[in-house]
Amino acid sequence: MHDGLAALPLFNPDDERDPLPAAVLALREAVGRADALLIACPEYAHGVPGAFKNLLDWLVGSLEFPGKPVLLLNASARGSYHAQEALAEILGTMSAELLSAQPFPVALPAAGCTVEQVLASAERCAELRAALELLVPSPPTPLPQAGEGSEARLAGAAPP
Ligand SMILES: Cc1cc2nc3c(=O)[nH]c(=O)nc-3n(C[C@H](O)[C@H](O)[C@H](O)COP(=O)(O)O)c2cc1C
Repeated sequence: MHDGLAALPLFNPDDERDPLPAAVLALREAVGRADALLIACPEYAHGVPGAFKNLLDWLVGSLEFPGKPVLLLNASARGSYHAQEALAEILGTMSAELLSAQPFPVALPAAGCTVEQVLASAERCAELRAALELLVPSPPTPLPQAGEGSEARLAGAAPP
């Protein structure tokens, strides 16, 4: 979880030069370290919240963001389709690798619901699991135990 959004200065291309503001460096380094990004962004007045768009604007010119796998999670009680559509357009323009053509819906009941309420719902857990399975690579298939189909594997094995 990146909690440095509020520390970011307002984006200005004139300020995008060394030394970058510390909060921008921290953001870019965090993105660089991440295997993938999960974005769950609210909608304000049918748009992407300005603070979050500001964060994205600081990543447009970064080396860390292009090609980064991104999963959009639509955790809204009210649809939030305008913001989700805009985010998909923005992230595509920024050369993100969107992991799903549509944002993954997690229909939270309303503002102020607790983590416990979400986790108590089988439907919400199933939605979250489906989303997270796109982010986490499948575990490797276990190798057969000795004597279990080993001849067939050897017969089909490519020469070293
Ligand atoms: C100022 C403001 C404007 C909002 N506008 C919309 C909106 O246009 N469409 C929508 O689906 N939700 C809207 N919401 C709801 C938020 O997207 C979000 O679902 C809600 O604030 C709960 O967020 P939380 O779970 O992070 O507390 C708005 C919320 C706020 C505070």
